[in-house]
Amino acid sequence: MDSVSRPELFDFHGVAMTHFFTDNWENIQNFQARSDDIVIATYPKAGTTWVSYILDLLYFGKTAPERQTTIPIYERVPFLEICVPGLDSGKDLADKLPTSPRLIKTHLPVQFMPKSFWENNSKIIYVARNAKDNMVSFFHFDRMNGLQPEAGEWNNYFQRFLEGKVVFGSWYDHVNGWWKKKQTHSNLHYMFYEDLIEDTGREIDKLCSFLGLSPSAEEKTNVTRGVQFDNMKKDKMANYSTLQVLDFKVSPFLRKGKVGDWKNHFTVSQNEAFDEDYKKKMRDPTLKFRTEI
Ligand code: A3P
Repeated sequence: MDSVSRPELFDFHGVAMTHFFTDNWENIQNFQARSDDIVIATYPKAGTTWVSYILDLLYFGKTAPERQTTIPIYERVPFLEICVPGLDSGKDLADKLPTSPRLIKTHLPVQFMPKSFWENNSKIIYVARNAKDNMVSFFHFDRMNGLQPEAGEWNNYFQRFLEGKVVFGSWYDHVNGWWKKKQTHSNLHYMFYEDLIEDTGREIDKLCSFLGLSPSAEEKTNVTRGVQFDNMKKDKMANYSTLQVLDFKVSPFLRKGKVGDWKNHFTVSQNEAFDEDYKKKMRDPTLKFRTEI
């Protein structure tokens, strides 16, 4: 990889972005989806890697187990919109995927999705995480990731998150936009990080029923065990430790993997301000998040 410096945020059609995700825009928008593609769509830090790993095991755990020990998760499941000088773009990696189905990750807000995914009715799995924990996880990620703008001080980050001035824009717009899409698009499965923590097996069952998969009891146990936090954390091919641009001395990529870590970061007055602001932005009573379980 060429040497890269931390990027600036800028407004891109109403969404805060950095050039790493817009430089390849035309190619991304013209991406040729296939009807059997499986897309994992998330706001950053909502559990993308966890669900990517679940899907990889469900589809290839039995037929190509060597994938798990030889190919990092970010190559098994390319990040569609990423474009970093000196590295294959996510779009090129996705084009080159030899597998069927192809598993593809994106953080795009729903209005930015390449239209081919809708035209081909590809299956999409959206994973959402409560805003408080999502913010904390994103803060630590921005601290350790040289491809992200500096996180800065927590107080300042807290405010920026509320204003949507972080990469991929407002959490509120993202989760609501995708939730709305789900009401009219049946090939979209919307799931929650908190539910996965509460009962991983139950959520894998729901996922399988959406995907039309019926793994044996043994396969299901393998998947459920394999994707436990402690297993993924120590697995070099799943924990991102092979990516130079991440500074694990600052924070690990798989950091805590819990619901409620926000309580260790939010002050009482930040929590009050957050809740007040949340009520104004989250007006759809059908979209509910849990900040503790
Ligand atoms: P924390 O920073 O709160 O620990 P993404 O993959 O979208 O970047 O999300 C990363 C977050 O998901 C991190 O949250 C990470 O620890 C958590 N995560 C990843 N794998 C997990 C697992 N198997 N169980 C629980 N949380 C997991």
